[in-house]
Amino acid sequence: MIFFSFYFVSYLVGIAHCSAVHHQLSLDFYSKSCPQLDQLVSSVTSRRFRDFPVSGPATIRLFFHDCFVEVPSNNGGGGGVVVERDVGDNKSLAPEGFEAVDEVKALVETKCPAVVSCADILAIAARDFVHLAGGPYYQVKKGRRDSKVSLASKVKLNLPRANSTIDELLRLFTSKGLSLADLVALSGAHTIGFSHCDQFLGRLYNYKGTKKPDPFIDPRLLKALQMSCPHFGGNTDIVAPFDVQTPFLFDHMYYGNLEANMGLLASDQALFLDNRTRPLVQAFGKDKAKFFEAFSLGMEKMGAIRIKRGKKGEVRRVCSKHNKSG
Ligand code: HEM
Repeated sequence: MIFFSFYFVSYLVGIAHCSAVHHQLSLDFYSKSCPQLDQLVSSVTSRRFRDFPVSGPATIRLFFHDCFVEVPSNNGGGGGVVVERDVGDNKSLAPEGFEAVDEVKALVETKCPAVVSCADILAIAARDFVHLAGGPYYQVKKGRRDSKVSLASKVKLNLPRANSTIDELLRLFTSKGLSLADLVALSGAHTIGFSHCDQFLGRLYNYKGTKKPDPFIDPRLLKALQMSCPHFGGNTDIVAPFDVQTPFLFDHMYYGNLEANMGLLASDQALFLDNRTRPLVQAFGKDKAKFFEAFSLGMEKMGAIRIKRGKKGEVRRVCSKHNKSG
């Protein structure tokens, strides 16, 4: 099952750079300069969701990476920097997310030129896709500006890995001002979308150097994944769904899957295996409304991590490049 063919051109990520201070953002930021913004965004997101459903998970993941990979505002800027899209885990970002943002931006520029940041567009588009897939609708505060630089070196340090431990995940999330509850709720985004085999191959064939599979994978899921993802010589483009039954439906099945040892990544399954996070996995698995509420709050907090405001940022004309880079 090959869903995406990836191309890696120099591109954005690092458009957003989202502020620890919530009240700096506001719901009515564009009420005068671009009152029709929400409708403009949703005209693109709803069409894309119908025609290219993978745009949903791709854009939500892009928003997560953009918020986590922060770039200091005073380190030069302009040309010559390695754009973050080409680095490490960002290489597996599906192109459909970038394309969705580009398409919205192009439309918005025709109606409200040079006022709406790519960072705000990404935040609104991610919200739309969550809702279109069946998830909660929440209000998005706006007023972010786009980063003037992006630094490849920031990517690795600021993103979790598929085999990060709960200690590592908690350290990373709390360093961004996010809580244990945010970690568990936001990981619920893995109720939709796909992962490449290489992200979980170790669990299938050689768990922690034992040359055996991870004991915490349901045997039937293990068999199915081993068939899709051969140990050696497999196609590197092959992906598997996070939620086998409903990969495009944003529901709370993710947590039920974890309780049934059907988590895809080690970092997913770890949320159920660790005493600190298990109670929340169980609570969200039982109560969809509780998950939706926690997820919406988590997305708002994540969208406010170290945003750029005023002169520290810019409104990019084209989301894939800083204005100075021409
Ligand atoms: C908690 C730590 C997290 C880890 C270790 C993690 C790791 C990953 C990995 C390895 C993939 C598969 C990449 C690939 O091979 O294509 C993935 C996909 C995805 N992640 Fe996460 N992630 C985490 C948190 C989040 C958060 C907070 C969100 C959003 C709120 C998110 C949204 C997604 C989505 C939607 C996909 C599917 C993308 C697609 O199908 O194109 N993840 N993640």
